[in-house]
This record gives sequence, C-alpha cells and structure tokens, in this order.
Amino acid sequence: MKQNKMDLPIKKHAKTFGKAKDFLPLIGTDFIELYVGNALQAAYYYKAAFGFQSLAYAGLSTGNRDTESYVVVQDKINLVLTSPLKSKTKIGQHIDRHGDGIKVIALTVEDAVEAYTLAMEKGAVSYLAPLIKKDEYGVVVQSGIYTYGDTVHLFIERKDYSGTFLPGFIAWETPEFAPHEIGLQYIDHMVGNVQLGRMNTWVKFYEEVMGFTNIISFDDKDISTAYTALMSKVVSSGNGRIKFPINEPAKGLKRSQVDEYLDFYEGEGVQHIAVSTQDILTTVKQLRKRGVRFLEVPASYYEDLSNRIGPIEEDLEQLQALGILVDRDEEGYLLQIFTQPVQPRPTLFFEIIQRKGARSFGKGNFKALFEAIEREQAIRGTL
Ligand code: FE2
Repeated sequence: MKQNKMDLPIKKHAKTFGKAKDFLPLIGTDFIELYVGNALQAAYYYKAAFGFQSLAYAGLSTGNRDTESYVVVQDKINLVLTSPLKSKTKIGQHIDRHGDGIKVIALTVEDAVEAYTLAMEKGAVSYLAPLIKKDEYGVVVQSGIYTYGDTVHLFIERKDYSGTFLPGFIAWETPEFAPHEIGLQYIDHMVGNVQLGRMNTWVKFYEEVMGFTNIISFDDKDISTAYTALMSKVVSSGNGRIKFPINEPAKGLKRSQVDEYLDFYEGEGVQHIAVSTQDILTTVKQLRKRGVRFLEVPASYYEDLSNRIGPIEEDLEQLQALGILVDRDEEGYLLQIFTQPVQPRPTLFFEIIQRKGARSFGKGNFKALFEAIEREQAIRGTL
C-alpha cells in the first residue's frame, strides 16, 4: 500500500445522502493505520507495552521513497504505523496538525469496487478510487471514502490474496524481540469525537452512506458531571461487527473531555479504540507491568459496587487493585478500563473490555469515568 497514491487532495463532506439500509455488508475491521512521527519506535511501543507481534514492513528497502510502515498484529487486530521519509508530505502535515493519530479505519469487504460505488452513489466523498494491487500472493482491491475530520475508511477486498498483509509489504520478523501477547482479540468499537452540533450529521452519514443503524443514544443527562457533559450515539453495521460511537461536546460549566480532544487534535478524529479480551484481569496485570498507565478511579467507586451491579464471577478486591470498572445491562455485565492517552497530546487512548453477556458500553461507569478524566484535565490545566 503506497501512501502517496492514497492521499488524494480531496477534502469536502457530502451534504446529500441516499436511503438507509444494510446495502454495504462489512466483514470486519481490516486494519487501523496511525500516522506517527517515528513508526519504528511506535511499533516497539505497541509490541513491548501491548503485546503486538511484528507482521509486515514497507519502506526504503521495498522501494518506497516517501513513507515507511510497520505492521503489528495481535489476534484479529492489525495496526499499521506509518511515518513520512521527507518533508512536505500529506502524512507530515497530518502529524503536524493532529500529532500522532488515526488516519485510516480499514474495513474488510467482499467487493471493494461495489462498496465504493454504492457509498459514492449515496453521497460519500472519495479518498481512493478503486485500486488493484498484485504480488506473487494474489490480488487486493482497495478503495476509500472520507469520514469525520481527516479520518478515512478504506474498503479492503482480500479474498484472492494469501500474502502476509498487503501487496507492497514484506514479512517483518523480529525473533530477537517478541514480547508475548496479552490476550487482546479484536476491536470491539472505535469512538469518534466530532464538533458541537455535528453528531447527528455523522450518524446520518453512517446510516445513509454506509448502511449502519443507530443502536443507542446518550444525552447530556446520561453523561454529565457537575462541570462537563457530552452526548453520544452508537452506530452499528448491519451484522453488528463494526460499532462506532460518535461523541459531541455538550454545554457544561467547564470544558469537556471532547472539547479538550478537539482542541488538541485540532479537529474531529478517533478518540479511543476498545479492544476485547477474554481475561481482563490477566491482560490489565500485564499492561500495568509493562508500564501502560490507566485512568485511576477513586476507592469510593468500589464501595457500593456489588449492590449496584449484583453478583459477578470476579473478585472485587482484584478488580479494585487493578482499577477495572464493571457495568451491567439487561443481558449481562461487562468489565472495562481506559488507558491514559498514548501520545503527548491528550487525544487517542485505548479501552480494554471484557463482555460477559452485556452488549452495551458501560453507561453506569460514565459518571465515575468522566470525573476521573476531569481530574486529569485539571492536572493538565485544560478543564
Ligand atoms: Fe468505549
């Protein structure tokens, strides 16, 4: 995948959308690509701290003159870390404006030409016209459209491909440094932060351009503290495999976490990636041991917890020692925890989530969580 071909200079969002239905079946999240200042060092961080494994590489030695990319993998999660090799590139401009951040949310599809054609008919803005890439392992078709901010969706059709990652990449093997995996399985959901008044615009985009359904809505009464508030709606693909909550700030006495994100990211973008584990206790123990820092919740959160959420299999003392939050809905419960931002700007962070029947997003934890974020904002002087 050559970045220079993908960075078309089009940047405008559609105003007219077609009719909503699941016309664009998505097989799953294919990869997430971050534009970062130093892809080599970022890859080391995701390996050492989060247990990702080396997978693929593209750069000078594979014929790329403009970019270098390292791909790391853990179960179904592929992260692509890309840096420019010279000044005045689109990628460099992206990093200058946003800091390290997510550029591409790539989705696996059956037919990338059809996905693109349908999305364009429904009013999407083109990022990449269908592009066929081949190597000795087969063919991959890619296409892409813009979503909020500078973020894009690529459609990846890889049914006729058996290579390591994508044509243009070679296998990246680092047997000398391979910290073991920590149980991260797949991307549960990815949250976007958008400007005040824009949440419904983007919900409509996902409904009408990509065939998603709005499955949950939270207003500022659900998500508010004494000082700040936000609103959120969750859109889901027809088969439920892709879920995108979309947040916008709501008026409060002080600046909300979404305002802080929009200021520091200098625009709309991905706020967090939630990754699933089947054993959150082990996963979080490992993450803490490897130096990943989390939002700290006060001891008071755990005081009344068993009354609030009823019986759970896990030991509450262990959960408290690790700072893991619990929430229950009609279908079961979930365990979750949020990292600190993973770059200098208070923008992108990770959520670790283990679902035990619950399909919701931890509404019961919003207040405790946002108060914790406000404490961090106060420390940063950005509340
Ligand atoms: Fe989340």
